[in-house]
Amino acid sequence: MNDILVDVRNLSITIDTFRGPLRVIRNQDIMLRKGEILGVVGESGCGKSVMVNSLMGLLPEGRTKIKSEKFEIDGENCQEYVEEDWNELRGTTVAMVFQDPMTALNPILTIGEQIYEVIHRSNAYGDDYDEKAIALDLLKKMGLSTPEKRLTQYPHELSGGMRQRVCIAMAVAGRPKILICDEPTTALDTTTEAQILRLMQTLAVEAGIGIIFISHNLRVIAQLCDRVMVMYAGKCVESATVEDLFNDPRHPYTIGLLMSLPQGKWHGELTAIDGQPPDLYDLPRGCAFNPRCKWAMRICGKRIPMVSNIGNNHEYTCWLAKLEGL
Ligand SMILES: Nc1ncnc2c1ncn2[C@@H]1O[C@H](COP(=O)(O)OP(=O)(O)OP(=O)(O)O)[C@@H](O)[C@H]1O
Ligand SMILES: [Mg+2]
Repeated sequence: MNDILVDVRNLSITIDTFRGPLRVIRNQDIMLRKGEILGVVGESGCGKSVMVNSLMGLLPEGRTKIKSEKFEIDGENCQEYVEEDWNELRGTTVAMVFQDPMTALNPILTIGEQIYEVIHRSNAYGDDYDEKAIALDLLKKMGLSTPEKRLTQYPHELSGGMRQRVCIAMAVAGRPKILICDEPTTALDTTTEAQILRLMQTLAVEAGIGIIFISHNLRVIAQLCDRVMVMYAGKCVESATVEDLFNDPRHPYTIGLLMSLPQGKWHGELTAIDGQPPDLYDLPRGCAFNPRCKWAMRICGKRIPMVSNIGNNHEYTCWLAKLEGL
């Protein structure tokens, strides 16, 4: 059985802006399997949201050029999709949880009305279903207290953590196969965050949902994910299982990120990576990270490195790999 939910090869995304065309994603592959939690990390502006939004057809219409060798979601080729096709896919095959639950919730509808709408729209429950029972069950699974009462409340009557749980309930109400979470716990306290992370794990393990989880927080990624993509300036510079990435990071940018953690194998003194992420309009020649890299060699400023695979699907894009004979 095919368990690949997302299979995207050589994806490039360019958005037309007032400063001219901005190449946000460059030659990127994305692969997600059933039940897998894929973490995406990288500095602000490196293209994480644009990349995942492309999987839902959520990029500015008319201003975005998307090129790929392959763009399959749940076995369907989406390369020629128009808005109508994306509309059908959203909420049924793929659902999204955003950072700010208030933007995802409608302030003038009750929680119940909003969840029922997703249930109706999804066609996932056949002809004969009890929307209230389904919604109650979902809210209970999300660990919300007094779920009956929640159904009749409006978003502003709930706390931030409760609202985010409602958003996750809404996202999974349509029984999606893929759940995309764009920094869903950034606005939450650590206890609520831990609960939401456990919830994600349950969804992946019990319902086999494939999850893409964007976070700035490497601790969260380490706790939650099976595999990680580290992005820099519109491109994944290293991808590996969580264990391999944290135990044996290879790309200097990944090593820099791990060294900036307050604890763990890689901490020395807390060090930030020197310099700023590059301007995507004006990328440095060669490897985009080379101006900030402690180990940069002459070739790094001249040519873009190839991908090296060191086994167990641990890949990174760095000229240092060549020195190691990889
Ligand atoms: N609708 C848009 N129009 C023009 N430029 C955009 C648009 N959306 C994103 N960009 C640009 O694309 C680049 C990547 O943005 P993106 O939002 O994907 O970054 P990110 O990695 O998600 O950052 P953050 O961690 O801050 O959320 C940025 O330079 C951003 O300005
Ligand atoms: Mg973002």
